[in-house]
Amino acid sequence: MEHKGFTVWFTGLSGAGKSTLANLLEKELRAANMKVEVLDGDVVRTHLSKGLGFSKEDRDTNIRRIGWVCQVLTRNGVVAIAAAISPYHEIRDEIRANVKDFVEVYVEAPIPVLAERDVKGLYKKALAGEIKNFTGVSDPYEAPEHAEVVCHSDCETVNESLDKILNVLRQKGYLNS
Ligand code: ADX
Repeated sequence: MEHKGFTVWFTGLSGAGKSTLANLLEKELRAANMKVEVLDGDVVRTHLSKGLGFSKEDRDTNIRRIGWVCQVLTRNGVVAIAAAISPYHEIRDEIRANVKDFVEVYVEAPIPVLAERDVKGLYKKALAGEIKNFTGVSDPYEAPEHAEVVCHSDCETVNESLDKILNVLRQKGYLNS
């Protein structure tokens, strides 16, 4: 059965778990025969946004590009899943307004927990001042105030977070099961 397109927009600090949840959600929706595309900031920065850095201007450009792809996919009946820090609420809300079928998921975890996990070793460097303008350490992150879902990755399992997301998608009528 054809399904409606929509965008699930993950936002949160580096290492909070956006990509993990985005990939799990992708699997789940594909298993339900839905057409899905994941746009991960780290990946998009290797092609569509190649050459962009981490100034506010470059981040805004990166996020607007990802948002535009989500908009195009969504209007063609595809589920677009974005996973990028997307630190500025103004740009996220701009994309929300353009896409319309837009579900924002804030993946939250406190900095000390992220610095302890430090999967990519970036927090150690950022805290030592070796990486400038690192989100949450030396660059802003504007937490969403009206996200449809908030996942606390420090105290929920990934499956608990995934269930929260799926429940909201069900409530909104985006899922059949
Ligand atoms: S965004 O701000 O434009 O949304 P995006 O999600 O694409 O960021 O990329 C973030 C990833 O880039 C991080 O997970 C991290 O691996 C890497 N990175 C490198 N430098 C920085 C930095 N200064 N701030 C944040 N992330 C950085």
